[in-house]
Amino acid sequence: MTRLLVTGGAGFIGSNFTRHVVAHTDWHVTVLDKLTYAGNLASLAGLPEGRVEFVRGDVGDAELVDGLFARVDAVAHFAAESHNDNSLHDPRPFLDTNLAGTYTLLEAARKHDRRFHHVSTDEVYGDLELDDPARFTESTPYNPSSPYSATKAGSDMLVRAWARSFGVRATISNCSNNYGPFQHVEKFIPRQVTNIIRGIRPRLYGAGQNVRDWIHADDHSSAVLAVLDRGRIGETYLVGADGEKSNKEVVELVLRLMGQPAGAYDHVADRAGHDLRYAIDSAKLRAELGWQPRYRDFEAGLADTIDWYRANEHWWAPAKDATEAFYAGKGQ
Ligand code: NAD
Ligand code: DAU
Repeated sequence: MTRLLVTGGAGFIGSNFTRHVVAHTDWHVTVLDKLTYAGNLASLAGLPEGRVEFVRGDVGDAELVDGLFARVDAVAHFAAESHNDNSLHDPRPFLDTNLAGTYTLLEAARKHDRRFHHVSTDEVYGDLELDDPARFTESTPYNPSSPYSATKAGSDMLVRAWARSFGVRATISNCSNNYGPFQHVEKFIPRQVTNIIRGIRPRLYGAGQNVRDWIHADDHSSAVLAVLDRGRIGETYLVGADGEKSNKEVVELVLRLMGQPAGAYDHVADRAGHDLRYAIDSAKLRAELGWQPRYRDFEAGLADTIDWYRANEHWWAPAKDATEAFYAGKGQ
């Protein structure tokens, strides 16, 4: 049995991954999570106590991290400040967690010689033109736009350096935009769905032409597990499910699935430095590790996600008012 440390396991994707590992392996998981505004223990509710242990703490706490690394075999590092809009408002926590936190973990991986998987984002590559036939590959040059993506790019570089210079047994995955249950209401899809439930009109930044490449969080989890299990040490794998959609298309689909009139949304102030388009070529992951996405029908996955938000208002309601107050202060 593998003893796995999952950082950020009380967040959106880390909690999905923890459920995925419990369902598909016999591994024991220790979750390390600071429970920032984005962490929620309710996202781990119902998991067997004998398989999942929770530790509240900061990935930048070297003493705590050292003790945890001593008693695991491998680490999946999800913990991060993850929201672009927050990084434009206050970048400091992004530097602390995404850069210094990753450094602290890498030093522990080096000292204890632990297998280390770093979860990253396609945003490290910057953006593409709408009509560019190219998609991001593992050899696309790094060109991050926001403080969030710059700190994720920096953390990727730290992982590569620790692998090359110190022999840390590391892999990296860079994934596109995730959707699914348990995503914080600050993010695009949950914000619009919960707005509609509350009788507020959806908010589209700028003209809504920006394109994101959507993947269900379960498919991201299966990809991370595949890389952790059988990825080649020192390699990077891009994760995506061929799900390109403009933000306008997504809002219009959400409105239709929720029985609202087609044009019942508002255009609001655009995001500063707003990346135009992300698109992932995941051929390497598919060819080398035999990975395939299970969710191929975005509309069906979105409909299930909407049902989840309708049925789980107790999970998201506590964060909704503060999130909307933050956006209102920015004209969004
Ligand atoms: P999230 O914001 O929902 O969750 C982040 C979690 O990390 C929270 O539980 C939070 O409490 C915890 N955390 C934050 N700072 C911490 C610290 N200093 N110490 C310990 N725990 C801390 O984020 P998410 O959307 O689940 O993203 C998880 C990871 O996946 C991130 O590394 C992100 O960059 C990456 N990623 C996300 C997406 C996406 O679409 N959401 C896509 C690609 C990659
Ligand atoms: O590509 C992977 C990245 O996807 C991850 O690394 C990030 O952690 C994750 O947050 C996500 O980043 P985005 O900035 O693409 O996601 P967000 O949900 O914030 O916004 C998606 C798109 O929707 C983006 O073009 C901005 C737009 N948007 C967002 C909000 C919150 C709106 O039009 N209206 C909104 O209210």
